[in-house]
Amino acid sequence: MEKKRIVTGDRPTGKLHIGHYFGSLINRVKMQDEYDEYILIADVQALTDNFNNPEKVRNNVKELVKDYLACGIDPKKVTIYIQSMIPETAELTIYYSNLVTISRLSRNPTVKTEIAQKKDLFGESVTYGFLGYPVNQAADITVLNGDIVPAGEDQEPLIEQCREIVRKFNSIYGEVLKEPEIYLSKNKRIKGLDGNEKMGKSLGNAIYLSDSEEEILKKVMSAVTDPKRIKKDDLGNPDVCMVSYYHKLFNSEDNYNNVCKECREGLRGCVECKKELAKKIIEYLKPIREKREYLEAHPEIIDKVLIEGTKKARAEAKKTMAKVKKAMKLDYYED
Ligand code: TRP
Repeated sequence: MEKKRIVTGDRPTGKLHIGHYFGSLINRVKMQDEYDEYILIADVQALTDNFNNPEKVRNNVKELVKDYLACGIDPKKVTIYIQSMIPETAELTIYYSNLVTISRLSRNPTVKTEIAQKKDLFGESVTYGFLGYPVNQAADITVLNGDIVPAGEDQEPLIEQCREIVRKFNSIYGEVLKEPEIYLSKNKRIKGLDGNEKMGKSLGNAIYLSDSEEEILKKVMSAVTDPKRIKKDDLGNPDVCMVSYYHKLFNSEDNYNNVCKECREGLRGCVECKKELAKKIIEYLKPIREKREYLEAHPEIIDKVLIEGTKKARAEAKKTMAKVKKAMKLDYYED
């Protein structure tokens, strides 16, 4: 039986952190054997809200690839490619834009939230490109004939919009496109060191896969703990402490239970507890960091992955576009 195809991706706007690791990278590594997996580096989408900062987007493309490979994504199994190098996606985006109304796009909850957060960039009126990025994302997925898009809840409205476009296209031009399904990640979003619901670059509360041992220690020492606890023998509440929260992620269950017990009984100081946690995180991330350093020293490996991945993805995209153009009666002459 043919493997089902996964299409997923990230915007190249920063290095990846442990939130990405537990939220999606682990899944991508797990799924790479069973599925035909494609990961796109969404530079075109990143530009929709970073059009004034092309260096940032450019500089983060290869950082993402380093993070992927360091975490165990195997380029022999997974096709990693750059979105802008598949011009068929841009072409398909234009055809799709006839099938979507402005009001439907404006109602997309994910886009709506993002527009509200980006007032500084967009002022009173959002750009055509940003409002339309779900259309572009629909093209990303369908140009590759994706069956499944593994993603977090925030991506659900985007996939739903993609499915609507596919249905509309097929009902007008004939059954050409595949309707993808979302595979919702069961992993919960990882909170930040400051207790914020989201770990993120802009919030300054993230531990990156590329952080050095010193950086990890420094960050863990600054993590938010139970504010009511001042002295070591004050009885602590690990439920409101970010250090215990991460102990749960990086420690064995027994050790974690013991940490909580000692904290509740006032037998464990926060400084000591943080140092222990930092050691665990450093240990856990060590093989990832070492592999990343190796890749850092061998940029030719990254280039090869991207060149080959992009070539393969483009060949797939061309096949879909030939069908799309034929269905739309745009197949005038042979290329
Ligand atoms: N919107 C996704 C994000 O912000 C990135 C993305 C672009 C994507 N194209 C995609 C995800 C196609 C899945 C499929 O993380």
